[in-house]
Amino acid sequence: MEKREQLYAGKAKSVYTTDDSKVLILYFRNDTSAFDGKKIEQLDRKGQVNNQFNAYIMGQLEAAGIETHFIQQLNAQESLVKRLTMIPLECVVRNITAGSICRRLGIEEGMDLNPPTFEFFLKNDALGDPMVNEYHIHSFGWAQAEHVEKMKALTFKVNDVLKNLFAQGNMLLVDYKLEFGLYEDRIILGDEFTPDGCRLWDMETRMKLDKDRFRQGLGGVVEAYEEVGHRLGINFL
Ligand code: TMP
Ligand code: ASP
Repeated sequence: MEKREQLYAGKAKSVYTTDDSKVLILYFRNDTSAFDGKKIEQLDRKGQVNNQFNAYIMGQLEAAGIETHFIQQLNAQESLVKRLTMIPLECVVRNITAGSICRRLGIEEGMDLNPPTFEFFLKNDALGDPMVNEYHIHSFGWAQAEHVEKMKALTFKVNDVLKNLFAQGNMLLVDYKLEFGLYEDRIILGDEFTPDGCRLWDMETRMKLDKDRFRQGLGGVVEAYEEVGHRLGINFL
């Protein structure tokens, strides 16, 4: 597989084309961003930790019957993925209140949500990723009705799989964000699943083991990501 030109650079990953038009390379950088790119720092080893973490989670999701774009890890900071036509929406499931829902609704952090709740956000940094509803999605044509249903179903299926997985490592999956795309007319999971895009707390102490450590300046960001990985049995390079 030959790496060609950079197609796109996001806040934490860069995407490259390859000699196969259906395959892309994801390069996980050390850049760590929060607040829609207003806070950015390079954190040593973050790229390689997230690349390996993502490979492990995508493998677990595939094993549970959830189709993903992931093909294989190439090296420390790169993985091969199928090229998708991305849907410009972020799918968020929350099992416990934290982050923007607390600010928006004036509620405390740490409330259990039964049933878990679901939110769509429009992927648009300039607008600060505004929350949108299904009527917006249909009226503006961001996704077809059947694809919206599929994304919701898959996002909840990921919840069942990963809540259990993290529980085995004595962690609570508080919330997470997924992005989907179309591959040969099928909706499949794209982007990444790493502690950059979810919240994970220690089950007993509720210590934060995710990007909130960076957002809130708590320190030990990459160390916390590695701790999560070790609890899942990942041996980092
Ligand atoms: P929020 O509390 O900021 O709305 O985020 C909910 C979860 O989704 C949290 O784990 C972070 C993740 N997320 C992202 O990673 N990127 C985003 O752009 C958004 C809106 C959420
Ligand atoms: N990932 C989103 C962003 O970079 C949300 C956040 O991390 O605060 O804006």
